[in-house]
Amino acid sequence: MCGIVGYVGPQGALDVVLEGLRRLEYRGYDSAGVALLSDGELSTAKKAGKLANLEKELAEQPLPAATIGIGHTRWATHGGPSDRNAHPHVSADGTVAVIHNGIIENFAALRAECEASGIEFSSETDTEVVAHLLAAVYEATPEGEGRLAEAMRGVCQRLEGAFTLVATHVAEPDTLVAARRSSPLVVGVGDGEYFLGSDVAAFIGHTREARELGQDQVVEIDRTRGLTVTGFDGTPAEPKAYTVDWDAAAAEKGGYDWFMLKEIAEQPQAVADTLLGRLGENGELLLDEVRLSDEELRDIDKIFVVSCGTSYHAGLIAKYAIEHWTRIPVEVEVASEFRYRDPVLDRSTLVIVISQSGETMDTLMALRHAKEQKARVLAICNANGSTIPRESDAVLYTHAGPEIAVASTKAFLSQIVACYLVGLFLAQVRGIKYEDEIAAIVDDLRRLPEAVEKVLEQMEPVRALGRSLADANTILFLGRHVGFPVALEGALKLKELAYIHAEGFAAGELKHGPIAVIDQGTPVVVIVPSPRSRNSVHGKVVSNIQEVRARGARTIVIAEEGDEDVVPYADHLIRVPRTPTLMAPVVTTVPLQVLSCEIADTRGFDVDQPRNLAKSVTVE
Ligand code: G6P
Repeated sequence: MCGIVGYVGPQGALDVVLEGLRRLEYRGYDSAGVALLSDGELSTAKKAGKLANLEKELAEQPLPAATIGIGHTRWATHGGPSDRNAHPHVSADGTVAVIHNGIIENFAALRAECEASGIEFSSETDTEVVAHLLAAVYEATPEGEGRLAEAMRGVCQRLEGAFTLVATHVAEPDTLVAARRSSPLVVGVGDGEYFLGSDVAAFIGHTREARELGQDQVVEIDRTRGLTVTGFDGTPAEPKAYTVDWDAAAAEKGGYDWFMLKEIAEQPQAVADTLLGRLGENGELLLDEVRLSDEELRDIDKIFVVSCGTSYHAGLIAKYAIEHWTRIPVEVEVASEFRYRDPVLDRSTLVIVISQSGETMDTLMALRHAKEQKARVLAICNANGSTIPRESDAVLYTHAGPEIAVASTKAFLSQIVACYLVGLFLAQVRGIKYEDEIAAIVDDLRRLPEAVEKVLEQMEPVRALGRSLADANTILFLGRHVGFPVALEGALKLKELAYIHAEGFAAGELKHGPIAVIDQGTPVVVIVPSPRSRNSVHGKVVSNIQEVRARGARTIVIAEEGDEDVVPYADHLIRVPRTPTLMAPVVTTVPLQVLSCEIADTRGFDVDQPRNLAKSVTVE
């Protein structure tokens, strides 16, 4: 949600800011704007809709050249997506321009206060109050170096909610000031130039040197004085420096029609990279980065996995493996529900938070709740420098590389693998599994990239099937055991991308309701477990296929090579390589991703940026 870009340096600011906004488009937005500062004058342009609208406006009415500027892509919360609600917002006296991500929860009271002092608002946003307040507080702040930063600190202390703010003031032509509380912001440091971004994608075309900002901090970027960070109370702080290991090419389409197609194709690499360096030569797990001591890991008596969207489905899959390998009870919950129901947490609870972006607000709030209750928190995350890993006790990074398409694919597979590593590591530390048992599972993990590669080689018939399903009104997904969360993920992908009603069910629940919706020709996708699966659900799923087919369903069956039992009942058969039961989701998910992508493309939709969705949901 909301992309934020700022630039101070020798280059033309407009080009740098627009390039940053383009790279942040994937976050999801509905309007965009820029503000430039030159010769003591602020100039702005803002437009509802895609960046192209803003660029057209800028071509027709160019702004004066500048080397300092800010830009924003907005995902509407307060006030619809319109030109006037787009950011930047400028104070009534024309001195301050502000961009914002997050929600100012007490904006109504602040707005009333501003209106009482005679200010007329020109938008319905919560953000605009910050522009007016900042201008007023600036006036009241003594002159001198760092005046805008001081004013920003004063304003932040009055704000409730979550926010990233970036501001510029006409009286400080060489300075940008930014603040963050529970919303993302990173600083890029180039040669004599500085960048601000919601994430590093905003500036990886220019520099890989980054600084992480902490909670409740203000950063001042000044052309001559450089970078100064303080807390909201003025206490000096040292930002953490890190080098971004993604390169700009990784965030480009590289010849694919959609980022999502590229990211699906990158999955074998994402899985391999997530395993890299973590599997020892003798089959043992090497997770040095998990900063919890062996003693702490041995004390754990309960695990919660907390996350949102696709990351939640990774958690559901992880439960089967972690419980099986560690014998520790695991509960999986969507983050938005977790903290509001007062979960039972204590020092012996491990809370695993999974987040591709590391910025999902619901997950962040769940993490903070868990820490308040003294639970240990381990993050599984794809974005270095993001808030969730920074606030967690331990972190295991998924090395999937930048994921640009809103619908998560390669991050999902790497999350499953990372969760499995955590489960096995726990089993190893707690001595629950013999070394050779762990080594055997490690071998299974090592074979996954090749298995995913094989699935990818056989996707042409799946694409053809997708094209034939483009007019479907509803598609059901059935699975048992680990196939159940895969069914949920298949249904989510279809809803996200193709806007077709879809539901995932535990195949065993079929006869308790869902079977009633099956009609002549209803497509039903069934994820079939291996016939060799220990818990023998295979036969039951084969019966379920027959049951839906007998009621007119068009069956789309995903089954492993050599499973002949399904052949008579499959209208469409999608083969996947033989894989041990717990590893199967990593391969069975792939055709479901391809299917949704193809259906959405055939229906003429934007696969990478589906309507109403954001890549990173940074408000609750
Ligand atoms: C949004 C995205 C989903 C993602 C979810 C959780 O809804 O559109 O693709 O799965 O957020 O995001 P996270 O970054 O926390 O994994």
